[in-house]
Amino acid sequence: MSLVKWIDFQSLGDERGSLVAVEVGMDKAVPFDIKRVYYIYHTEKKVSRGYHAHKKLKQVAICVAGKCRMVLDDGKKREEVWLDSPTKGLVIEDMTWREMHDFSDDCVLLVLASEHYDESDYIRDYEEFKKLNGNKL
Ligand code: TYD
Repeated sequence: MSLVKWIDFQSLGDERGSLVAVEVGMDKAVPFDIKRVYYIYHTEKKVSRGYHAHKKLKQVAICVAGKCRMVLDDGKKREEVWLDSPTKGLVIEDMTWREMHDFSDDCVLLVLASEHYDESDYIRDYEEFKKLNGNKL
């Protein structure tokens, strides 16, 4: 099964421009209650970010401006996608290793998160991640 799961947001555009509304709920786009929102911007050239997985946290990443390349890895396979549209959300499940590369100068990456910030939820060592996720796969 692919690690790449997209949410397609409807663009509520009119002659003035575009608008996307992100809603949470059973029949809505985002499959968890949002406890935290953060955004990454002004990323320096050649910088890559991420290099971690989360034990519990689920996220949806939306590139609301510009673009960046996201790598997802479950310890067995790696897949990569470009985030380059404000109407596309990438669902990042728990226990998924992620890396972000090739940020454009104008990239603003919005992230919706299912939990508050908790450093103890991070797995920052790839070998440890592979060991932990090996049991699940
Ligand atoms: P980090 O998760 O390492 O960023 P990335 O995965 O994008 O490379 O976070 C960078 C710093 O910001 C780190 O010191 C923790 C802090 N931080 C918070 O305080 N709250 C948050 O919600 C996030 C995502 C990070």
